[in-house]
Amino acid sequence: MSQHHVALIIPYRDRLKHLRDFVAYMHPFLQLQKLDYRIFIIEQTNRRPFNRAKLFNVGFKEAEKISDFHCYIFHDVDLIPTNVNNIYGCTQFPRHMSANIDIFEYKLPYADILGGAVAILKEQFVEVNGFSNSFFGWGGEDDDFFNRVTKNGSKICRFGPSVSKYIMLSHKKEKPSTDGLNSLKYTVVQLEMLPLYTRVLVDI
Ligand code: UDP
Ligand code: BGC
Ligand code: MN
Repeated sequence: MSQHHVALIIPYRDRLKHLRDFVAYMHPFLQLQKLDYRIFIIEQTNRRPFNRAKLFNVGFKEAEKISDFHCYIFHDVDLIPTNVNNIYGCTQFPRHMSANIDIFEYKLPYADILGGAVAILKEQFVEVNGFSNSFFGWGGEDDDFFNRVTKNGSKICRFGPSVSKYIMLSHKKEKPSTDGLNSLKYTVVQLEMLPLYTRVLVDI
């Protein structure tokens, strides 16, 4: 029996070439590591901007129904690990797996980055209440996850630079999410100019 019972959760939409390359590469890679694993592709329908973090939460919930995985790996579809010693299992602390990616010159872009690929024990993921559901569009959801994980004093673990090596399959850069004033939607239910203040009752 393998020591590792792992669910790989992949957020996905409209990157078929990457998906094909990813599964073709990852199955032999994971089998070499003698893991007990299952790959879940969590695909978002077309209606709204892409929400990577919410897809991860959905993946966790659906995987949980299928088997009692003790370790979850939240993983982009375009990241290809190049060192077979980069074990796809969980460590004592949540592990940032993709610390050294070719497009970032194999260096960490900043110390607190937790994007790309992360391995985390089921209990730890539940403890931090998973990811935020509210990051539509590109960016920020992984930084929010870093805050969730480290808030309770947990450390982040990384393997050394020769092990945590990845190449990113090429794609055009998504526009960063511009959530804010320009995407604000609300309905004023009541507006009253009262003697002491103006009251605006809103449905948001
Ligand atoms: N993704 C996707 N379709 C999209 C946008 C993102 O499948 O239209 C998934 C895919 O797994 C991708 C990940 O979300 O690898 C992160 O997005 P992206 O690669 O654009 O972000 P990067 O980290 O390269 O800036
Ligand atoms: C974004 C992250 C992203 C990182 C590296 C940051 O500015 O908030 O979501 O992973 O850049 O691209
Ligand atoms: Mn990418």
